[in-house]
Amino acid sequence: MRKPMIAGNWKMHLNSAEAAKLAAAIKNGLDPNLKHDVLLAPSFTNLEVVRKETASSPILLSAQNMCWEEKGAFTGEVSGSQLKDAGCDYVIIGHSERRKIFLESDEVLNKKLKAAFKFSLKAIFCIGETLEERENNQTYEILQNQLQKGLKDISAQDVENIVIAYEPVWAIGTGKTATPQQAQESHIFIRKELSKMFGEGEASKIRILYGGSVKAENIDELMSQPDIDGALVGGESLKAEKFLRVIHYQSAVNNEKIQ
Ligand code: 13P
Repeated sequence: MRKPMIAGNWKMHLNSAEAAKLAAAIKNGLDPNLKHDVLLAPSFTNLEVVRKETASSPILLSAQNMCWEEKGAFTGEVSGSQLKDAGCDYVIIGHSERRKIFLESDEVLNKKLKAAFKFSLKAIFCIGETLEERENNQTYEILQNQLQKGLKDISAQDVENIVIAYEPVWAIGTGKTATPQQAQESHIFIRKELSKMFGEGEASKIRILYGGSVKAENIDELMSQPDIDGALVGGESLKAEKFLRVIHYQSAVNNEKIQ
């Protein structure tokens, strides 16, 4: 069965003192019997303080981006080996803000994923359609394209180190969440595509998170969908109390999964 994951993407927020305080509050608020994964993705400059604060806890550490090269003349970039050295377990690859604002192509993202695995990092690979694409009935075509190009030539063994995050771009930071049914439909489609690429057995093991205006108020309903295996949370993960409520969601479906 798939172990759910609740991940907080702090984006370009918080100084080091604020990041340490938030990480400590999340750590101290965790139910010690929690059976699913909790992950925090601070800025590069805050990885170290968050690593220290969460050292004696099950919280996983993730970066938000990385370079596909190991080292060299790549001013301003950070490599997978540096992230591993900084204590990261995961790296987020292909967030829509990276695709849209920093013009990262599917080909570049594919190289980044391969580099992540080379340095024993796991990856949260983000995909999702824009509002215009959804309105033009292109959602599935876009998701298929992002999966096929992003995961090109990735082995079935490496794919076990990938968590997919379905983040419809129109739902990010807008307060407009996809309905649990809309998200579930996309997740089913994604899993079918993964089955075609890696076989049904592998696809059934891959976690698919939903992201886009996830809140304390809507997490229970989202997690009650059978193919929603967790959430990638932006704004709400910056507020300890709210994020702790997201982490401790109530869902018969997903609590059953990890019995
Ligand atoms: P919000 O939860 O703020 O909509 O952001 C979602 C997101 O982009 C997480 O990666």
